[in-house]
Amino acid sequence: MNFANELNVHVFTIVKKAASELQLETYVIGGFVRDILLKRPSKDIDFVCVGSGIALAHKVNELFAESNLSVFKSFGTAMVKTGDFELEFVGARKESYRQNSRKPIVENGTIEDDQNRRDFTINAMAISLNSESYGQLIDPFDGLTDLKKKLIKTPLDPSITFSDDPLRMMRAIRFATQLGFDIEPNTFEAITKNLDRIKIVSQERITDELNKIISAPQPSYGFKLLFISGLLKYIFPEMVALHGVEKKEGKSHKDNFYHTLQVLDNVAEVSDDLWLRWAAILHDIAKPATKRFSKKVGWTFHGHEDKGSRMVPGIFKNLKLPLNEKMQFVKKLVRLHLRPIALVKENITDSAIRRLLFETGDDIDALMMLCKADITSKNDEKVKRYLDNFKKVESKLLEVEEKDHLRNFQPPITGEIIMEHFGLKPSRLVGEIKDEIREAILEGKIENKYESAFELMIQIAPKYGLLIK
Ligand code: CTP
Repeated sequence: MNFANELNVHVFTIVKKAASELQLETYVIGGFVRDILLKRPSKDIDFVCVGSGIALAHKVNELFAESNLSVFKSFGTAMVKTGDFELEFVGARKESYRQNSRKPIVENGTIEDDQNRRDFTINAMAISLNSESYGQLIDPFDGLTDLKKKLIKTPLDPSITFSDDPLRMMRAIRFATQLGFDIEPNTFEAITKNLDRIKIVSQERITDELNKIISAPQPSYGFKLLFISGLLKYIFPEMVALHGVEKKEGKSHKDNFYHTLQVLDNVAEVSDDLWLRWAAILHDIAKPATKRFSKKVGWTFHGHEDKGSRMVPGIFKNLKLPLNEKMQFVKKLVRLHLRPIALVKENITDSAIRRLLFETGDDIDALMMLCKADITSKNDEKVKRYLDNFKKVESKLLEVEEKDHLRNFQPPITGEIIMEHFGLKPSRLVGEIKDEIREAILEGKIENKYESAFELMIQIAPKYGLLIK
């Protein structure tokens, strides 16, 4: 198989020229080769040469009219950025690994040595940039066949590959999920046997892979693989706790693990937002902790939305996810995820809608997506009834928002206005007056306007012992 046509790009011409000037045997390798074959064009290209990758990168950088070079001396790698391309250069290696570290002992090696030490057959293919074999595919482990068979398989005995670098267990599941591939049985079994080795991998790297799984078109597949292999228990035990069905006196509850995965897939169908997907993953996370059984009503999970929301920061911290506004968004969605459906069940009053808009602000659309995704009943009639009711809530939301503009509520009477009018210093009293005005707006007693709010402020002042100026 020859890829000379695919390599007919300025970048390859330059690298080829640099390599021949330095007389370095050079190849394109890894993800870029896999992605050409999968017709997923990419701008990140890895090059490997037999010799110094850093020297090659220097030469390449010289030959480009416009480019930047960064050298990572301690890793023996260098990167050249040119246009949209990121070109990574490394010398071919023969690596051996120690028991307690992902950092290998590196020796110079041949292209075969380098291919041997790669993670999967589909990632170990190389294309020659050498003049006598330009464009030729070098595929010692028949990655091409595995690509066709849609298989993730290690080039060597999988226990060696995973034990060398246990992050590859996560990568196997991540590639399977992104590409919709199977994991070859021996490879999968080796994951189940090397679980403990994941402990030497940093949480940041694990979470990077987890986020890639979550960002895939059908993330449930990845979570099922993580669960069945046993990795999920190591990396995210709170999610494993959702698994299982208990039965008492003939009454059982649904399996919250599979329910959560269904909600996650439903969200993934309508949104690429990683944090909305995290909200789906965590929406029922406190169900195990709040589960109760009573003869009268069967299984309940009272308060799981509040408790779940309170669990979010701890989970984010453990997983080294950002403790910023993204976390606040997830917390908020978990806390409010029952509200729209509760609205549907009761009478949809204007004031309930106003309160929801006030609390969710700009995240109302995301919350509605999560709530719709949360309908996983197998009973078609029930689903239809819920969705019809949701439509009612949505049109009511639009109607109230148009009238009252509460989506990004800014109090028409600010603390400053109150302080200035009554000659007050910042104090609890100011907050109480502000709250009473806000409540009156949300209850629909007054309009969300400066004049109405000002009038109310004057009216209620004597009750707070204030004299009107
Ligand atoms: N690689 C490996 N073991 C790892 C990481 C990477 O063997 N733990 C090798 C693989 O050959 C891989 C290449 O290094 O193809 C580049 O790695 P990376 O950029 O992380 O992955 P890609 O395969 O390029 O895929 P993606 O960009 O989707 O992460």
